[in-house]
Amino acid sequence: DREPIVAIDGPAGAGKSTVTRLVAEALGFLYLDTGAMYRAIAWLVLEKKIALDDEPAIAECLESTTLTLRRTNSTPPLQVSIDNTDVTQAIRTPQVTANVSAVAKLSAVRQVLLKQQQQWGEKGGIVAEGRDIGTHVFPNAELKIFLTASAQERARRRLQDLAHQGETQIDLEQMEKEIQHRDYIDSTRKIAPLCKAPDAIELVTDGLSIEEVTQAILKLYARHC
Ligand code: C5P
Repeated sequence: DREPIVAIDGPAGAGKSTVTRLVAEALGFLYLDTGAMYRAIAWLVLEKKIALDDEPAIAECLESTTLTLRRTNSTPPLQVSIDNTDVTQAIRTPQVTANVSAVAKLSAVRQVLLKQQQQWGEKGGIVAEGRDIGTHVFPNAELKIFLTASAQERARRRLQDLAHQGETQIDLEQMEKEIQHRDYIDSTRKIAPLCKAPDAIELVTDGLSIEEVTQAILKLYARHC
């Protein structure tokens, strides 16, 4: 007996973060960005200069590390900390983005984060976004959305995000390649790869505004939950 769970999955740059946050706000639900958790671990591995494929060393490091997600009333709505260091900004750098998929494919990493994510959803009343929410984290979610857009559209959105952060060095073609590379690693890994759950509803968001996508999901929620 719990409140409903909404799972939002999809490839990089499909607009999941903003939409998930708005849907959670509209429903008065918790917002969980699981990508931020994988990013935090990637940040830690880079910070400690552990080789990305040294799974035993990464596993050992995780045993003595506390990852904390705290709700805030500002933007971004989640504050991410590793032990006592606030990494909310640091996990958004191009360097973390370029390396996160290599860390996210490790079983030792996924096991730890899966547990923590499921704890967040214990009572329901949550909108969670990621790659494996509908397939592994919350397979019993009442509503599952698979958000996609063409690679070009997703690259354009990512560039816009980066431009807001003052990063203007990357061009569209390079961004498109990076996104496709990350999606490739995420969807071909052995454990919990990026894929649409059979019972997920696919929304193709090319040409749709954030507001339109949010409203579409809220309508589906009203119908399904
Ligand atoms: O959503 P975001 O782009 O922040 O995710 C960063 C990375 O974290 C993804 O490319 C993927 O490698 C990993 N991830 C994952 N499973 C999730 C969420 C994110 O493997 N549920």
